[in-house]
Amino acid sequence: MSVSPRLARTFVRCRPSLRSHPCVHRPLRAATFVGPSHNRPIHSSPMLLTKPTNPDPRENPANELAPNADVNVGQKRLADFDLKGKVFIVTGAAQGLGLALAEGLVEAGGKVYCLDRESEPDEHFAEARKRVVPEWGGSLHYRKQDVLDTRDLDKTITEIADDNGRLDGVVAAAGIQQVTPAVEYEPEDTARMLAVNFTGVLMTATASARQMMKYRCRGSICLIASMSGSVANKGLLSPVYNSSKAALIQLARNLSMEWSPIQRDGTGGIRVNCISPGHILTPMVRKNFEEVPGLRAKWEGENMMGRLAETTEFKGAALFLLSNASSFMTGTNLIIDGGHTSW
Ligand SMILES: NC(=O)c1ccc[n+]([C@@H]2O[C@H](COP(=O)([O-])OP(=O)(O)OC[C@H]3O[C@@H](n4cnc5c(N)ncnc54)[C@H](O)[C@@H]3O)[C@@H](O)[C@H]2O)c1
Repeated sequence: MSVSPRLARTFVRCRPSLRSHPCVHRPLRAATFVGPSHNRPIHSSPMLLTKPTNPDPRENPANELAPNADVNVGQKRLADFDLKGKVFIVTGAAQGLGLALAEGLVEAGGKVYCLDRESEPDEHFAEARKRVVPEWGGSLHYRKQDVLDTRDLDKTITEIADDNGRLDGVVAAAGIQQVTPAVEYEPEDTARMLAVNFTGVLMTATASARQMMKYRCRGSICLIASMSGSVANKGLLSPVYNSSKAALIQLARNLSMEWSPIQRDGTGGIRVNCISPGHILTPMVRKNFEEVPGLRAKWEGENMMGRLAETTEFKGAALFLLSNASSFMTGTNLIIDGGHTSW
């Protein structure tokens, strides 16, 4: 019987010695350049023939992440959403969307650290804490931390991971907004916006990923972008804010490419996704309404549901992204906008 070359390769790939170790990862092949440099498009760097992070599917240690169909079934209401025993960080969680998402993670049993530049969280934090049901295993903590102070941010995230011996997930929600016509934008305004909305998020993600790698946690990172990263908002002159959110949508793709595969040393398996909310009633948006008369009515009429969102309407999405329920989801952007960008 003749064996096709493809089948033969399959037999070689499935050698017992390779299959027996769950964390086997094919070694990276030496980089091979495609063609002479003068044949390459001028904007490209030398293209590599290797796919550095995509091992053969049959030997891929990421298979360990696929939910076992028999585990937890019938034990509890959809156990994929259970966060008991897991540790999370939410930035920008002194108020608004970040705080609501933090509360959602606690309700699912997570231990959640809220980080924010404010010395104290607003009154909703104490209310959220009172609602925590200890038997479900969750707890809510607060640390003052400006994401612009990247050295200190790294230290805080390291301390949280070290104290708990793990870090399972992060929501990067700290963000600022500025309404200014493009021709009036000063370089300082631009730098400030990007420092918080882009660099702050990137540094939150990288500091967290380092800890997830250290503790070999198959973590999940959720960047809070915005539908404003995909469209221009009618009636709101915020060109740099919108661009900063578009940058996060791209950042999630790149970080997920780097961190999602599991490496030979056991690091990796870290998923990165964005949530892109539509207009939500938060302190940030209430300020927009004060600045721009008639904006509220305009925005309410701009989505298919004819209303603005409440912060609580995003809890389920964050829980989904940070739990096992989304174990095959990475590098993507979840738009939740009442249909605003769909017509
Ligand atoms: N409200 C909306 O309609 C809407 C829509 C889409 C996306 N978003 C995004 O959701 C996130 C939360 O927005 P929100 O509406 O709740 O705003 P918010 O102003 O109510 O809350 C933002 C929080 O981020 C904190 N923060 C700002 N700069 C910080 C820094 N340097 N370090 C640490 N914390 C900092 C603030 O102190 C505040 O507590 C933002 O990233 C925002 O861009 C909001």
